[in-house]
Amino acid sequence: MASISVVFSILVLLNFVCIAFAFDASPLQDFCVADSTGKALCKDPNTVTPNDFFLSGFHLPGNTSNPYGAAVVTASATTVPGLNGLGLTFMRVDLAPNGFFPPHFHARATELVVVLEGSLEIGFITSYPSYKHYNKIVGKGDVFAVPVGLVHNVRNLAKGNSVAVVAFNSQNPGVTNLPNALFAAQPDIDSVYLSKAFQLDVNTIKELQKKF
Ligand SMILES: *[C@@H]1O[C@H](CO)[C@@H](O)[C@H](O)[C@H]1NC(C)=O
Repeated sequence: MASISVVFSILVLLNFVCIAFAFDASPLQDFCVADSTGKALCKDPNTVTPNDFFLSGFHLPGNTSNPYGAAVVTASATTVPGLNGLGLTFMRVDLAPNGFFPPHFHARATELVVVLEGSLEIGFITSYPSYKHYNKIVGKGDVFAVPVGLVHNVRNLAKGNSVAVVAFNSQNPGVTNLPNALFAAQPDIDSVYLSKAFQLDVNTIKELQKKF
């Protein structure tokens, strides 16, 4: 009987180990280029060309004329079909002066930011109960990592544009902007409930819900 409980304990432990390493699976073949026709999972390897692994334009500044002052170009399985199944996303990010990303998190990827021009303030916040804020000014040539799933803040501190390239260890990192998740959910989150959570009056919450 003791041995059964030992085996059970090992199985439970293995289960947790698996969860701890539950990132994008390793591929079982050299590549699986996404089939744009949707007829097959992978494109017939005989029809795969170098262009399936190619994307141009990362040297071009994005258009930052929007409320965030931010532009993103993405190399992912969507824009580089050869990346399908390989667990990687890569971005060029341009931020105008005062440009920013709202506090957000990526549920499925760790993020590595490499600043090529300008200067960014990047910080992430650890989970309950410490909520420790690891905040850093990251300049040209600097690298900063944001662990998977943690809420982070990003803004441009430079007088001019800042440019960064950003890597994610997932084919589909996902992004959840906290202001949108809280105040723009559809159907909306009950405003009385939110007023208690934020210790604000209900009208302030309703105003926030209108804004988003
Ligand atoms: C940038 O985006 C704005 C807003 O969408 C647009 O009005 C403007 O023409 C764009 N500029 C360029 C150079 O594409």
